[in-house]
Amino acid sequence: MAEVVKLERHDVIATITVDYPPVNALSAAVRGGILRCMNLAIADPKVKAIVLTCAGRTFIAGADITEFGKPPQSPTWDEFMVVIEDSPKPVVASIHGNALGGGLEVALACHFRVATELAKLGLPEVKLGLLPGGGGTQRLPRAVGSELAVKMIVGGDPITAREALNSGLIAEIVETAAAGGQAFARKVLAERLPIRKLRDDDSKLAATKADRSIFTNAVASMTRRARGLEAPFAAADAVGAAIDLPFEEGLKKELEGFNKLLGSDQSKAQRYAFFAERAANKLAGLPEGTKARQIERVAVVGAGTMGGGIAMSFANAGVSVTLIESTEEQLKRGLGTIQRTWEASAARGSIPADAPAKRMALINAVVGLSNVKDADLVIEAVFETMAVKKEVFAQLDKYAKQGAVLASNTSYLDIDEIASVTDRAQDVLGMHFFSPANVMKLCEIVRGPRTAPDALMTAVSVARQIGKAPVVVGLCHGFVANRMYDPAFKQADKLLFEGALPHQIDAVLTKFGMPMGPFVMGDMAGLDIGWLSRKDRGVKSEISDALCEAGRFGLKAGKGWYKYEPGSRAPIPDPDVERLIDQTLIRLGRKRRAISDEEILERMMYSVVNEGAHILDEGIAARPGDIDVVWLYGFGWPVYRGGPMYWADQVGLTHILDRLAFYAKQTNDPSLEPASLLKRLAAQGKLFASLA
Ligand code: 3HC
Ligand code: NAI
Repeated sequence: MAEVVKLERHDVIATITVDYPPVNALSAAVRGGILRCMNLAIADPKVKAIVLTCAGRTFIAGADITEFGKPPQSPTWDEFMVVIEDSPKPVVASIHGNALGGGLEVALACHFRVATELAKLGLPEVKLGLLPGGGGTQRLPRAVGSELAVKMIVGGDPITAREALNSGLIAEIVETAAAGGQAFARKVLAERLPIRKLRDDDSKLAATKADRSIFTNAVASMTRRARGLEAPFAAADAVGAAIDLPFEEGLKKELEGFNKLLGSDQSKAQRYAFFAERAANKLAGLPEGTKARQIERVAVVGAGTMGGGIAMSFANAGVSVTLIESTEEQLKRGLGTIQRTWEASAARGSIPADAPAKRMALINAVVGLSNVKDADLVIEAVFETMAVKKEVFAQLDKYAKQGAVLASNTSYLDIDEIASVTDRAQDVLGMHFFSPANVMKLCEIVRGPRTAPDALMTAVSVARQIGKAPVVVGLCHGFVANRMYDPAFKQADKLLFEGALPHQIDAVLTKFGMPMGPFVMGDMAGLDIGWLSRKDRGVKSEISDALCEAGRFGLKAGKGWYKYEPGSRAPIPDPDVERLIDQTLIRLGRKRRAISDEEILERMMYSVVNEGAHILDEGIAARPGDIDVVWLYGFGWPVYRGGPMYWADQVGLTHILDRLAFYAKQTNDPSLEPASLLKRLAAQGKLFASLA
């Protein structure tokens, strides 16, 4: 096996280079290699200073996550961190790409840190349901103070090299990692800069020791949105130990917390989700050697809710985009919405003040479909009717250059039928973004029966480039996301007719960890559109209809399934709604019964799992993990529950099967009949995971 860590000496400077693709994860082999090279460099009398750096695209991006849950391998973290920190010769970490998790922790054990301009530094362990277990919770507060340490450790987001420089986390920004690190090491020697061991230096903690509210306020602000998660709170406790206890004791506390989380169900689910997202990028069954097409120019057709958001996603990633509308007026309206959205973000401080203008400049707004002629990828986001889609695609076929990928953002329509109006069905596919498209990460890539493999790969690669989580799905009504949510909505509606109340149903889902329940969601979207469409189709949904007849159109009307105080978006349960439901049920001759929270959860979520089983059986999703990614990023499924298919495996498929069969009988609802895949797996004692 090639050596993963090598040692070179240029006169008095020893350089230790980690070369362990793809991300230089800190596996046992890398830890052992660094330790071996450190010992050699320390023993070599010619060496006066040591630089630790990495080959390839990044500095060490963390512990090797694939080692978690396996028996610990030597050398232990402690053993090798101590050798670095106790080195009698100055050690400089020289960072490019990402220094994350264990990677940043190693850098913190070094005496100096430098980084390239584009480097990112962070402790993202909480995102895997963990806390930093290599001394990060003890050394980072000593490097940057408790406030920023809490932000980085409890929040998990990395900071830029500039921010690292301003906070004292790094000493300098360098042009290139290896040469820059070596130049800095020479400066350390020339200027006789003293070796700084963070573990012995409490100076940056003095302010917090005098006023602990600096720490508690930072924790309160970072845990505000950590509902249901264990890791952020445990991580905050570990940082608290850095303030209250001597270093060695704090380190012990950190390790206890880390080990506890490592064995927790939440962390297992979060680590599963990390790998599921990455597996979803790998397309199964494509001919060997399939390559994504070169994409230089992108056009989005339609500047409405979705088209505007999609164009913003490109500009947010620094990619220029042509935005096409049918009239000047619509274009102006669409651009206005985009500008206001960015300005509001800038006012909140979530993007820099100059970002709105810079990003607007990346959008080339024009009228008329002939403007797609230079685009390598066109994403259509016009009205959701087959006739309009066909009209637009016929025009795209006329104007777009050969080889351009033509994508539709349709929510439900048949991609292949849309493709049929073109002479290039192989280039047509779906790119189904979620609303608000500038925020939501999910992008379902819909594969039609005639879609070419390289077109598919192109869509996946572009979606990744703009920071989305792409999942390839097959063609069916509603694809994976909408098709799977539908049975849950239907159960929610049925539960109302049996006696549950909207706020009870919503509360069950939010307690489970979903960001909101179906009724709050309905109020936000507006109830009138569905009502009008039902009227058009001659369909009834008596309770929702009664609500709309009473003018309760949702949030915009100040009342819907809930009531709202003027100017507030906070839903308040309304006795009038209960009365209205009662009256409707009396009119229909139905009796309300007491419905338990358990029944609500089981009927809604098990029907989601059941639909997922149908989808897998039909091959609409390639892997259970793909479905989980759809839910994590399309609907905000709680990451500590992994995703609906992972969750089902934990609950037990036989149990789910039995409950579905029970409710199908109890409520006389054939849609709750267990899917045949669920039956097969349960009979064989297997899990959905066995299909991965
Ligand atoms: N361990 C093992 N494998 C890892 C890994 C890690 N820490 N980080 C990434 N990988 C693998 C991915 O699974 C993927 O493998 P694949 O090609 O077989 O699918 C490959 O590396 C490339 O990863 P990405 O596709 O994510 O590459 P990107 O360039 O998009 O992103 C990254 C790179 C920003 C480094 C991203 O991979 C990332 O965020 N990694 C995780 C970082 C992290 O969480 N570190 C903390 C680990 S926990 C820890 O350090 C505990 C310590 O405190 C004790
Ligand atoms: P919208 O009504 O807000 O926007 C559609 C825009 O397309 C309008 O601005 C219209 O002027 C423009 N347009 C129509 N014909 C055009 C043409 N020939 N050339 C250029 N522009 C044209 O609709 P919305 O909500 O953005 O939906 C668009 C598509 O996205 C639909 O297929 C919808 O199903 C899908 N979608 C919608 C989601 C949502 O939550 N709104 C979520 C996911 C997908």
